[in-house]
Amino acid sequence: MAELEDIRYLVGPGGALTGRLRVPGDKSISHRSIMLAALAEGETRISGFLEGADALATLAAFRRMGVEIEGPEAGRVRVRGVGLHGLEAPDAVLDMGNSGTSMRLLAGLLAGQRFATTLVGDASLTRRPMRRVTEPLARMGARIETSETGTAPLRITPVETLAGIDYALPVASAQIKSSLLLAGLFAEGETCVTEPAPTRDHTERMLSAFGYRLRRDGARVCLSGGGRLRGCELVVPADISSAAFFLVGASIAPGSDLLLEGVGINPTRIGVINILRAMGGDIELRDERMAGGEPVADIRVRHAPLHGIEIPRDQVPLAIDEFPALFIAAACAEGETRLGGAEELRVKESDRIQVMADGLATLGIEAEPLPDGIRIRGGALGSNLGRAPIQAHGDHRIAMSFAIAALRAAGPVEIHDCANVETSFPGFPRLAASAGLQIEEQQRA
Ligand code: S3P
Repeated sequence: MAELEDIRYLVGPGGALTGRLRVPGDKSISHRSIMLAALAEGETRISGFLEGADALATLAAFRRMGVEIEGPEAGRVRVRGVGLHGLEAPDAVLDMGNSGTSMRLLAGLLAGQRFATTLVGDASLTRRPMRRVTEPLARMGARIETSETGTAPLRITPVETLAGIDYALPVASAQIKSSLLLAGLFAEGETCVTEPAPTRDHTERMLSAFGYRLRRDGARVCLSGGGRLRGCELVVPADISSAAFFLVGASIAPGSDLLLEGVGINPTRIGVINILRAMGGDIELRDERMAGGEPVADIRVRHAPLHGIEIPRDQVPLAIDEFPALFIAAACAEGETRLGGAEELRVKESDRIQVMADGLATLGIEAEPLPDGIRIRGGALGSNLGRAPIQAHGDHRIAMSFAIAALRAAGPVEIHDCANVETSFPGFPRLAASAGLQIEEQQRA
C-alpha cells in the first residue's frame, strides 16, 4: 500500500526545536507486548502502544489467529490471552508489511504451532535476509521454507516437537535472539542464546513481567519450554529511536531547547545518547524512573557545537537504528566522523549506508561509504530544491533524518518516498512542526 502513493516532505531551512513533546510508543516493545499478551493466560492491558503500521501488522496477525484484541485507542490495547497453546490457524497468509521484527519474531513463535502459516511482506521486507532465523530454528526441528535466496515468503509447517538449542549468535541481533527464545517457549528442554555484544533485551524483560522464568548469565540467556505466561499491565515508553530525530535536531539547530517526555532509556538502547554526548551534545536525563519493567526518563536536549568522532564499536548495536539520524549530526559536526563494524546497516529497511551517503552528497556533504560503515566530513549543508530530490527509498528513518537536516540547510530540502514514516512514527510531520520544524507534507498519487 505505502508504495503506491508517494508522500513527499518539503522542509524549509533553519529554525530551532523548542518546547516539550512526547514521541509515540516504542516499536520493539509494542510488538512484543502483543505477542506475549496473546500467549498469556488472562487479560493484558497495554498503554502507550505504538499505533504505527509495523506494530499494527503484528496486532492484525494475532487477531487473524483468533486472539480477541480491543483497541488500539489512544495507545490503549486490551488483549484476552489464549495461553501458550491457544492460537488458531489463520484463514490467510499473514502480511507483515514493512516490519522485519514482526516477521523474524513470528517465525520463531509460529514454528512451534500445530498449524501451518505463511508470512509475507512488502518489497523491502522481501529483500531482507531471513536465514539468520530460519537456520537456527531448523536446528531446533522447525520446518520453514524461504525463497531460494533466503528471503520471504516464509512457509512454516507444523512439526511434532521442537527441541531446545544452545546457540551463539553470529551477529548481534535482538531479532534472532528473540525469535529463538519465542520458539523456546514451545520447545522441549532448555533454549539458550549467547550474544556477541549486548542487544536490546525487551523480550527478556517482558517475559519476566509476564512471570516467565529466565536464566541470565552474562551474555547468555536461557529459558525452558512449557511454562506459563500470566496476563499483566504494560506501559510502553516513548521510543528512543523516534526521540533520536529530535535529539539530533535540537543538538544541531542553534537556539534549540527541547524536553522529550517519558522516553525509554534501557541501557541496550541508549547508544544515540552516548554518541551524541561524545560529539559534544548537551543532553540531560531527568526524573529517571521505571515503567512497565523498563527504565524511562524525560530528556532535555539543547543546541551544542558538535565535533566528529570515531564511533566506538561497542556502541554500534546500542544505536543500530539511530545511525541515519547520527549521520546528520556528523554532517553538521566539525571534523570527520568515522563508523565501522556496522555492516548490519546494509540490510535494514534500505541499505542505510548507501542511501544516507547519496542523500548527504545531494546536500553537498562529503560522505564515503565503507563496506561496514561510513566516513563523513562535517560541513555546510546545501539545498536540493530544483535539483535531485533526496530519495528515502521507502525507509522511514532516512526520511525523518533528512527532514531534520533542513534545520541546518542553506535552503529547502525536498525528500521523496516518505510514506513509510507511518510504520514507526505516525504524525511525525505534525509533531515536528509543533516543535519548530518547517515541514510540509505533500501527497502524490
Ligand atoms: C529490533 C532489533 C534490531 C532493530 C530493529 C528492531 C527488535 O534489529 O534494528 O529495528 O525489535 O528486536 P536486529 O535484531 O536485526 O539488529
